Amino acid sequence: MDKRKIVVTSALPYANGDIHIGHLVEYLQTDFWVRFQKMRGADCTYVCADDTHGTPIMIRARREGRAPEDLIAEMHARHSRDFADFQIAFDNYYTTNSPENKALCEDIYARLDQGGALLREKVAQLWCPQCGMFLPDRFVKGTCPHCGKEEQYGDSCEHCSATYSPSDLKDAHCATCGCRALETRETEHILFDLAKFKEYLRGWLGEHTPPDVAKKLQEWFGEDQTLLPWDISRDAPYFGFEIPGYPGKYFYVWLDAPVGYLASLKNWCGRNGTTFEQTWGDPATERYHFIGKDIVRFHCLFWPAMLHAAGYQGPTKVFVHGFLTVNGEKMSKSRGTFVSARTYLDHLDPAFLRYYYACKINSTTDDIDLNLDDFAQRVNADLVGKITNLASRGRSE
Ligand code: MSP
Ligand code: ZN
Repeated sequence: MDKRKIVVTSALPYANGDIHIGHLVEYLQTDFWVRFQKMRGADCTYVCADDTHGTPIMIRARREGRAPEDLIAEMHARHSRDFADFQIAFDNYYTTNSPENKALCEDIYARLDQGGALLREKVAQLWCPQCGMFLPDRFVKGTCPHCGKEEQYGDSCEHCSATYSPSDLKDAHCATCGCRALETRETEHILFDLAKFKEYLRGWLGEHTPPDVAKKLQEWFGEDQTLLPWDISRDAPYFGFEIPGYPGKYFYVWLDAPVGYLASLKNWCGRNGTTFEQTWGDPATERYHFIGKDIVRFHCLFWPAMLHAAGYQGPTKVFVHGFLTVNGEKMSKSRGTFVSARTYLDHLDPAFLRYYYACKINSTTDDIDLNLDDFAQRVNADLVGKITNLASRGRSE
């Protein structure tokens, strides 16, 4: 039998923060799976990259008085070191801010445009005159129109869970500079016409996503439901790729991020005597994404529809995991359970966490609990106890 050809990805971590033990659930799960396929003799390539574009990176670089390129280079080095120290064996760890990614985004965009998959619409958005930019929902703060709680984000209230649009906030102000004289300005956006792919996606989901994910997503596919167009453009200033033929408009970060999977692979191909067409583009290749349950919408709706519309091969399967909890609760800075990969490494052997996650990981979207007492006990009993014991006996007998 021919060797299986497999391309595997983990979601691309944002370049504006360090890797933490929650992320590691995913990168370790993928690493285990890839090592297993390689041991079975498959021709398996594991690619990933930093997700470098978007408003948060741009604002942070501004605040730190440096170029975003400088910031993302530093974060790439930090992430690479953390992954290497946890023995996560990527075949390529690249960046979305690359020439390969720009070229692929432009090619996919041109194909979507030619295929009539794009819409253009005027959108009204809040504008901060002091920052000189349109404000994404999370960059507007104000008083919740439902419960009156102050300092809530522009999309939803953390106090009463209401969702609304930023212009509904009372006392709306710029989260970055505090400016209260926000204006509403109209601007043209480019949208991906998702509704056109409703039938395609309805069929795709069942075969390419885990049963619980497919079931959840099918809820949006009723006869009377339409899939809303997806806004794929952002106005300058923005850190990303400018849209060809639209000066001052950029691809939204969630458009170029998944294309970053392909770009990382393409970059690897160039250095390994193969091509994108012979790997991702070969129908015989298996293509797998590992992601967390928070980003299902992007990977199981927008992404397959976009690839299909552009005439690219789609994912064979999207594997979805749950979130890490520590002692049964969400990781929290105040409880001290929000632990970065580096902090862990400063104190413990990475093999302990690799082993513990390997025991816990499964194929559902249920959350995974790191119970610290259980962790210590298992590591002591299984790793320190049994294995060390075996090794020392092996020596003496
Ligand atoms: N940049 C996007 C992904 C783009 S993929 C084209 C993103 N980045 S992230 O850094 O927030 O998350 C990266 C991955 O780590 C996601 O799959 C996410 O679900 C996973 N996790 C982040 N925090 C997690 C936990 N606390 N627990 C388990 N997985 C977590 O989303
Ligand atoms: Zn501002």
